[in-house]
Amino acid sequence: MAQDKGRKKIDAAQDLFAKYKGLFRCPVCGKDLAVNRTNSLVCQRGHNYDLAKQGYVNLLLKQGKSDYDKKLFAARRVISASGFFDPMLNTVSKLIRKAITKEGLNEIRLLDVGCGEGSHLAQIISSLEDKKTPNLFGVGIDLSKEGIRVAAKEHPGIVWSVADLAKLPLQKEQFDVLLNILAPANYGEFKRVLKEQGLLIKVVPASNYLIELREILFKGTDKEFYNNDSVKKHFTSNFQLLKEQQIRYQVELKGDNLEHLIKMTPLTWNADQEQIDEIIKRRLKSITVAFDVLVGEK
Ligand SMILES: C[S@@+](CC[C@H](N)C(=O)[O-])C[C@H]1O[C@@H](n2cnc3c(N)ncnc32)[C@H](O)[C@@H]1O
Repeated sequence: MAQDKGRKKIDAAQDLFAKYKGLFRCPVCGKDLAVNRTNSLVCQRGHNYDLAKQGYVNLLLKQGKSDYDKKLFAARRVISASGFFDPMLNTVSKLIRKAITKEGLNEIRLLDVGCGEGSHLAQIISSLEDKKTPNLFGVGIDLSKEGIRVAAKEHPGIVWSVADLAKLPLQKEQFDVLLNILAPANYGEFKRVLKEQGLLIKVVPASNYLIELREILFKGTDKEFYNNDSVKKHFTSNFQLLKEQQIRYQVELKGDNLEHLIKMTPLTWNADQEQIDEIIKRRLKSITVAFDVLVGEK
């Protein structure tokens, strides 16, 4: 039964790759990748990449160990499902809807770079899907196999690939909207894969994001205060800034969500047990969420 389920996922993924042929390029030679009948992506030169049974493709040439592991993505998924990111995701969806209405396109291709466990892209696509919206097609890319494996398992209908955003295995000018949410950027690659009129939407943490954790973890160090000036400067020196939107809200921490939050954030990566215990002891009732959404074009 489990095998049957896996088989269906890989078949559905094969159909998607076939439908959108010409999108991916071989990470070795740059030639187009096409899916074959044995569930592999193959280029003209014969370089071959098997689809995993969950329905994703790994296009990383050198597999590295990511700090973003299975436990982090499991916690991130729980937090995401609790509605933690909803105000930010609603803002992003509205920005996309406005842009696609203005452009009057028949089909919209979305790319989420650094998509993690994929729930953001899936939620954005499902919130945009209605009779008025043109066909939506999503691709999610992440360096972490653990993240992409969860994404493919939980969100069929989207193309998922393990890849490095600094060397995207995608042909040029394929996407209408590129999302880059709380993840690193490579603006050269983003420009290359975006269509001429394409839109880049980048979400960056603002100073007060998870400030309650930051105060405990980094008190008295140079990490106690964070600002995103250099990230914004890097964005605006590469893309023309069309709009910037601030999103600020408090999230109530119900049930075990404080524990999940501790596990899902890179802020706790170097924390010792004493600091984690201190956070748990304080039993925070709510946490500050603060993002800046940057919208740009080439
Ligand atoms: C803080 S997580 C955010 C994940 C997701 N966008 C979210 O908001 O839940 C940062 C993500 O960037 C990914 N990442 C880091 N470096 C990358 C690279 N060079 N190429 C692709 N993804 C990368 C990580 O694997 C991780 O999933």
